[in-house]
Amino acid sequence: MRGNLLTENDAAMTFDRKIKIAPSILSADFANFGKECEAIEAQGADWVHVDVMDGHFVPNITFGPAMCAAIRPHIKTVMDVHLMISPVDAYIDAFAQAGADVITAHVEAGPHIHRTLQAIRGAGAKAGLALNPGTPVSAVDHLLDMADLICVMGVNPGFGGQKFIRSQLDKIRTLRARIGDRPIHIELDGGCDPETAPLIAQAGADVLVAGSAVFRGGSVDTPGIYGENIRTIRTAAEGVYA
Ligand code: DX5
Ligand code: ZN
Repeated sequence: MRGNLLTENDAAMTFDRKIKIAPSILSADFANFGKECEAIEAQGADWVHVDVMDGHFVPNITFGPAMCAAIRPHIKTVMDVHLMISPVDAYIDAFAQAGADVITAHVEAGPHIHRTLQAIRGAGAKAGLALNPGTPVSAVDHLLDMADLICVMGVNPGFGGQKFIRSQLDKIRTLRARIGDRPIHIELDGGCDPETAPLIAQAGADVLVAGSAVFRGGSVDTPGIYGENIRTIRTAAEGVYA
C-alpha cells in the first residue's frame, strides 16, 4: 500500500511462505519490457524481479528508476526491485516513487545498511536485504527486525545464466532457522532452474527468482513457453516443499 490508497497488488504482498516464482527481466527482451512483464504475469509469475546494476557495485549496467516507472503500469503483481548499486541511499526515494513494492539493497553496499533499511521502509516500500555468496548469515543478525525479505544470492551478482553455488543452500537453512516465526521472506536469486529449485525450496526459500530458466525458448509471441517454464520450476519446488 502506498499512501492511503489500496493498490491492486496489496493482496499479492500479503505475507505467506507459499512458493512464489519471480522471473528476472534481466533475461527479457530489453526492447519490449512492458509486454514481457504482461506476458510473464499472464503465464503465472507471482512477482516481477527487476535487476538494477550500476557498473560499480557489480560489473554490469542495466537501468534505473525511470525504467522502473515506465514498466510499473504493466505490472499487476509485485515489483521486486533488486539494487546492485553503491551507494544506495540517494536513490531510494526515486525507486519508491517509481512504484517499487520491495526494494532490496546489498549488505555489502555500504557501511550503514541499518539506515538504508530504515529509509526504504520510510519511503513506503518493503525492505529487502541481499547477501553475496561470500557473506555469512551473521551479517543480518542485528537487522532481522528491519527486514521484510532476505535475498540469498545463488551466484555472484552481475549476470544472468550462471551456475548455482551449492554452498548457499546451507546459508538458506541457517537463515530459515534464525528467522523463526518472523514474517520475513527468503528469496533465492541466481541459478534457479528445475534441477536446483527443489533443493532451494527444501532449504527454506519461498521466493524463487529465475531469469534464464523462465525466458529460455520463449518470447512475447510465444508466451506459452514462459508458462511451461514457470510451471516446471514451481512443480519441482513444490514437490518437496509440502
Ligand atoms: C544476478 C541477478 C539475478 C539474475 C538471475 O545478478 O540478480 O536476478 O538475473 O538470473 P538467472 O536466473 O539466469 O541466474
Ligand atoms: Zn536479482
